[in-house]
Amino acid sequence: MSSGGALAGSSRNQRRLFRRRPYSIWNYIGRLLWKITWYTIWKVVSRRGPIRACLLKCFGARVSWMTGAFADTWIEMPWNLTAGSHCLLGPRVHLYNLGKVQIGSHSVLSQDVYVCGGTHDYTSAEMPLIKTQNIIGNNVWVAAGAFIGPGVTIGDGAVVGARAVVVKDVEPWTVVGGNPARLIKKREMR
Ligand SMILES: CC(C)(COP(=O)(O)OP(=O)(O)OC[C@H]1O[C@@H](n2cnc3c(N)ncnc32)[C@H](O)[C@@H]1OP(=O)(O)O)[C@@H](O)C(=O)NCCC(=O)NCCS
Repeated sequence: MSSGGALAGSSRNQRRLFRRRPYSIWNYIGRLLWKITWYTIWKVVSRRGPIRACLLKCFGARVSWMTGAFADTWIEMPWNLTAGSHCLLGPRVHLYNLGKVQIGSHSVLSQDVYVCGGTHDYTSAEMPLIKTQNIIGNNVWVAAGAFIGPGVTIGDGAVVGARAVVVKDVEPWTVVGGNPARLIKKREMR
């Protein structure tokens, strides 16, 4: 084959690889139905009361009836979410939970927090999607605008400061902040 033909063939192969979908057809249908629900029922029901928790349960989330979320909290795939009681997902929180995200009881994610449950293998030309898991323990506070990176675990009782970029696991009962997030102090309770 001429080099032009080989090039055309390889770019055809690459296009085929990029077209390969990382999810099943059921996943796309589930996401479409969830989006329709989110833009309609989710938006109008009260934050207080169990209706949002009920909607999440209908889409396969393992959440407590006492899990709270705002009208503009976005959960990419409810079926990948586990959340404990009295846990609150604040305004504009974005759970990009391509993999599982587990949030413990009495934990709060303040406004504009982004939990990133996926990345790409940039060492491969096809940039395959990697789905990762995030665990956020009990009694955690993730303050406004923090970014929780792929695969990161936040230990029980930890505090993540506003606008922190967390790319490594956070020890229990510590306060971290900055970009990249580093230990600020131990969290001491009165
Ligand atoms: C992380 C936080 C809780 C720490 O509060 P604190 O215990 O009172 O800490 P201090 O103000 O005593 O600061 C201690 C050190 O951490 C640094 N620091 C505090 N917050 C930081 C942050 N978000 N990112 C990076 N460094 C931070 C301070 O500069 C200080 O550094 P220094 O010792 O070198 O001077 C607080 O700063 C914070 O981010 N609060 C969140 C606010 C918020 O999101 N509000 C919305 C509520 S819904």
